[in-house]
Amino acid sequence: MPPSDERSRISDDPSIRVAVVGASAGLGRCIGIGLAAKGARVAFMARRKDRLENAAKEAGNNAAAVACDVTDESSCQRAFAEVADTFGGLDALVYTTGMGVLAPLADVTAEQWAQLFATNVTGASLVTAAAAPHLAANAGTAVYLSSLSASYSTPWPLLGAYAVSKAALDKLVEAWRIEHPNIGFTRLAVGDSFGGSGDSQTEFNKTWDPAALDTAIRFWMEHGYMQGGLVDADHLAEVVHSVLRCGNSSFIPYLTLAPRPADAVKELRQW
Ligand SMILES: NC(=O)c1ccc[n+]([C@@H]2O[C@H](COP(=O)([O-])OP(=O)(O)OC[C@H]3O[C@@H](n4cnc5c(N)ncnc54)[C@H](OP(=O)(O)O)[C@@H]3O)[C@@H](O)[C@H]2O)c1
Repeated sequence: MPPSDERSRISDDPSIRVAVVGASAGLGRCIGIGLAAKGARVAFMARRKDRLENAAKEAGNNAAAVACDVTDESSCQRAFAEVADTFGGLDALVYTTGMGVLAPLADVTAEQWAQLFATNVTGASLVTAAAAPHLAANAGTAVYLSSLSASYSTPWPLLGAYAVSKAALDKLVEAWRIEHPNIGFTRLAVGDSFGGSGDSQTEFNKTWDPAALDTAIRFWMEHGYMQGGLVDADHLAEVVHSVLRCGNSSFIPYLTLAPRPADAVKELRQW
């Protein structure tokens, strides 16, 4: 058995090195800032470099901003080589990149399916492939943000294609776990969250038709898909931090963070 100081290196080391992908906005940005506040050294990764630089500046603690397009294999390889070089290694990956399409399945185009899978599934695998050698070298951890609608509830009407892509992501995480048992893989299904303020606010539905979204939310609330509550992004960051703090003696394979019923959605939409 290794000495206890070696076994607990990750759990006790406040300067754990974490790459958060999808960190230019929304939940990824909140998680990155939250982890940095707890002493982690964070690489903020996504496509919009200016956003990443702002996030790294806000995070402090020697955070880095590294551009990465998850749909581009060479971009992923380059970006993780840069992170590992800058940090002298990598202990954890948090994959928050994701997108959704608001449409009945019958209307989802081949192009939309391709973009959904490239971003939510294939991208997760390309990123993991680039990060895995570095994570394996440190008995590291990889966390993937998934959806309640893939594992906790039934798929929501109008978000079926999204739920399918997240179910594929969940299986991808299991497949990576089988091939790389030396890395702790966690699927973290999370409920609706607004994120934080400014750039940390979610942009998840920003390209959706506002009227169609309003109608959809009313339907989801009336039919019990939504219970009206929202996950606080600070609580989400705490949960991710706990997963990373497991250390290299254990890991958390599955986690589900669901919102409690509340009036948060009604207040947000000023109904
Ligand atoms: N918000 C919610 O209520 C909610 C609920 C359940 C689950 N989730 C899941 O949580 C995750 C984060 O959601 P969110 O609300 O924070 O979404 P968001 O605000 O839309 O942020 C998505 C992030 O992904 C990045 N991204 C998109 N395409 C990319 C690409 N090709 N390469 C690299 N980065 C890319 C975006 O940055 P760039 O555009 O700069 O690349 C952005 O940083 C998603 O996986 C989502 O499915 C969210």
